[in-house]
Amino acid sequence: MCGIIGICSLKDAVSTPPALIIRRGLEKLEYRGYDSVGIASIHDNKIIIRKGKGKIREVNAHKRLDGVPGLVVIGHTRWATHGRPSDENAHPHIDCKGEIAVVHNGIIQNYYQLKQYLEERGHRFRSETDTEVIPHLIEEGLKRSRCFFEAFREAVRKLKGSYALGVITVFEPDKIFFARKDSPLIVGLGNGYNFIASDIPAFLDYTRKIVVVHDHEIGYISPHEVYFEDINGRSISISNRIRLIDWTPEMAAKAGYPHFMLKEIHEQPIALANTLRGLGVEVEKAAEILLNAERVFLAAAGTSYHACLVADYLMSTVASKPTIPFISSEYKKYRNCVTERDVLLAVSQSGETIDTLMAVRNFKNRGATIISLSNVIESAIPRESDLTIYTRAGPEIGVAATKTFTTQVLSLAAITVNLAFLNGSIDRMERKELLDQLSYAPKIAEKSIMVTEGIIREFSRELSNKNNAYYLGRGIGVPVAMEGALKLKEIAYIHAEAYPAGESKHGPIALVEQGFPVLFIIMDDNNYTHILGNIEEMSARDALTIGIVPEGDKEASEKLTMVIKVPRSPWITSPITYTPPLQLLAYYVCIERGYDPDKPRNLAKTVTVE
Ligand code: AGP
Repeated sequence: MCGIIGICSLKDAVSTPPALIIRRGLEKLEYRGYDSVGIASIHDNKIIIRKGKGKIREVNAHKRLDGVPGLVVIGHTRWATHGRPSDENAHPHIDCKGEIAVVHNGIIQNYYQLKQYLEERGHRFRSETDTEVIPHLIEEGLKRSRCFFEAFREAVRKLKGSYALGVITVFEPDKIFFARKDSPLIVGLGNGYNFIASDIPAFLDYTRKIVVVHDHEIGYISPHEVYFEDINGRSISISNRIRLIDWTPEMAAKAGYPHFMLKEIHEQPIALANTLRGLGVEVEKAAEILLNAERVFLAAAGTSYHACLVADYLMSTVASKPTIPFISSEYKKYRNCVTERDVLLAVSQSGETIDTLMAVRNFKNRGATIISLSNVIESAIPRESDLTIYTRAGPEIGVAATKTFTTQVLSLAAITVNLAFLNGSIDRMERKELLDQLSYAPKIAEKSIMVTEGIIREFSRELSNKNNAYYLGRGIGVPVAMEGALKLKEIAYIHAEAYPAGESKHGPIALVEQGFPVLFIIMDDNNYTHILGNIEEMSARDALTIGIVPEGDKEASEKLTMVIKVPRSPWITSPITYTPPLQLLAYYVCIERGYDPDKPRNLAKTVTVE
């Protein structure tokens, strides 16, 4: 996820230099990405660009981003998805002659094919990014049409994937061209100036009048004109789409959500969609490495460890390849038995967790092959891995991991399916069926959030005055229960413990008394009948039984005090169906108890000390 912004202004319409407006706007978007930044403008009919690797303040300090002259200015703050953070990979990107500059948020899925097509026609590329194909595509289009907008439209039609684009050109020096598909883009309407941006905070100090750009719409802004058209080239009237924003700047940074955590829970559909788009050959390479591994170890901490437990369950059942998951800080246990025939799969959204990094180094020193799964390109753990798969969840600001967990699970499931096909556990048809099921993950997450948020807000009041809770599951529901319990612990400060439901009678049930909350993860799988018995056990002791059940469920629902219905979904995506309600439950209980979900006490987003 990145942040883009652009302004077209008349000379005296704003008292602040446009480049300074853009730099300040980028700072309001920094939570969307912060590994590199750039600004471009049109001045004296030339494109001027300043950009570099690093945070906005750092790059501005030595490149004077906000010193760029001109009244038409675009800017970009990056969260690397294709191509490591570097000066060359920073946006904006230009065509061969430097007459077109582009900023982009999203992922161009067919960039490799487009790059080949353009290189065959003599285009020379300067970066490793997917974005850079866009200015060259427009440049190629201008060989066939003298109308820039036509060339722009044709180029956009060739793109597959997600994009929010801002484009400037010497051929139309008073305009910014835009296009949107799946990545957010908003037009801000001023007096003698107009904006485009990824999010409202970027220009909120200058206008509160906005028009949201819809998917497949393209158009342009100039200081006195805003033009929209649809995918078929028909112009669109925006008069009834103008909205007045009444957010505070603080709220605006969270796109209207009260907290980053809630925003990131709701971002899961797009985070999953972008992650799916980004899963490429590395997934197959990872599967091949795992296929030849004598043993597969999984190392992670916290939420990422729960993702490993999901992976262990999937690999054992779908690919008949049991693994050895362990909490990273316990890596020393294996120091005398790891060999070069082993593989370590290290999972870390930050890519900086020192425990996991130490596990990686320890296994690497013993000759094991290292695969990592991370959300941050070029972070410490990927840098020391033989192969890295990246989730594309975008920056996660809330301390509690949410969208990074479900995108990790999705990526690990994709690796498992490829491994299962390679080792003959499933055939081609079954592989296609399972990958098709995974492709619905964004929709499943969206529906699960939509249908459960209301009832969860109600239930959170009941749970908010409890001090203990059990989260019970069976099968793949166990790591999901563990993730839910961790969320409640870390942001609502309720002592929640998760364990396999079958374990209750081996001790834990001794704690259960009247009103003791026990939350069950109930899936329509081969554990259903057994978990009914576990509900009975708890009900017999007057526990407060809460169940997350598949919609349409009757038998379990009749036994439960509280029922949360989730959409029915394929078994392989069940962690993605059941986890968002648990995230929402922890969030709303935290709010009920008066705590700050974004900054829980004693915790840091990344643990870089052993
Ligand atoms: C989860 O909500 C916590 N933020 C924490 O347990 C986290 O998952 C753990 O520190 C691992 O972080 P990583 O994925 O960046 O390695």
